[in-house]
Amino acid sequence: MTQSFAFYSSPDSPNSPSLLSELPTVTDSVELDNYSGFFSYQIVHEDPCLTFSAMLDGKLSSFHLDFTQGKVAYRRQHGGGRKQHIAKACGLKHNWTPNIIDATAGLGRDAAELRSLGCSMRLIERSPFVASLLEDAINRAAEANPELFGSNFELFQGQSLELIRRLSQEQQPDIIYLDPMFPPRNKSAAVKKEMRLVKLLVGNDPDADELLPIALDNAKYRVVVKRPSYAPYLNEMKPSMSIESKGNRFDVYVLKGIN
Ligand SMILES: C[S@@+](CC[C@H](N)C(=O)[O-])C[C@H]1O[C@@H](n2cnc3c(N)ncnc32)[C@H](O)[C@@H]1O
Repeated sequence: MTQSFAFYSSPDSPNSPSLLSELPTVTDSVELDNYSGFFSYQIVHEDPCLTFSAMLDGKLSSFHLDFTQGKVAYRRQHGGGRKQHIAKACGLKHNWTPNIIDATAGLGRDAAELRSLGCSMRLIERSPFVASLLEDAINRAAEANPELFGSNFELFQGQSLELIRRLSQEQQPDIIYLDPMFPPRNKSAAVKKEMRLVKLLVGNDPDADELLPIALDNAKYRVVVKRPSYAPYLNEMKPSMSIESKGNRFDVYVLKGIN
């Protein structure tokens, strides 16, 4: 099904971000009924936050991204640090802070987690819709926590298959991290509202298998692939090792040992 989105501009709200410049701007909320969803700025903790809203099960549902509050910040303060599965998968137990390309940035949660563990992050997201939400959250996070998000946390909007192929040798990262969309096992209400809204924005990732060989050719030390526990290996390629997490699995493809 083709989705159509709009930018809803209310009096005093900031202008549409450049990544959303192609979307029609609507100023009368009645017109929003003509679209599958809309972006708008909503005031959260006194800050205008870029928000995506759509009807789910007959109710208007919205979300915005925030790396300084909520789940991401909680995990930073109370999470297991370098003992976490994602940290082990990226080899961080070696007291190593690699530079990582997250080639499927999505909501930026994993990237923010890895940044808070000291890694330098480059994020690639192909959907201009998701990238605009990410950009907004990164700008706010850089202001609130410049030490963590003011540098070494850079977003690129584009197709990873292309951007990774074009890296010079100096630009190649230590690790490429992949977490493409995978259909949920059951389509019940258990599938979180936020994930359903993201699905509306980006659909599936039918070319996910193609990412792995390109990542393997362009990472220096390893490629880490996050999959739901029930999903087959990406591109049917057996990893060097797998780390099981709650409901997820990190498949690790080792290219070179970490000293
Ligand atoms: C499951 S989400 C990633 C979630 C992310 N790990 C997080 O912690 O929020 C997958 C995202 O990857 C993006 N994506 C998939 N294939 C891509 C590609 N080839 N290039 C760039 N982005 C891609 C999708 O648009 C989607 O937003």
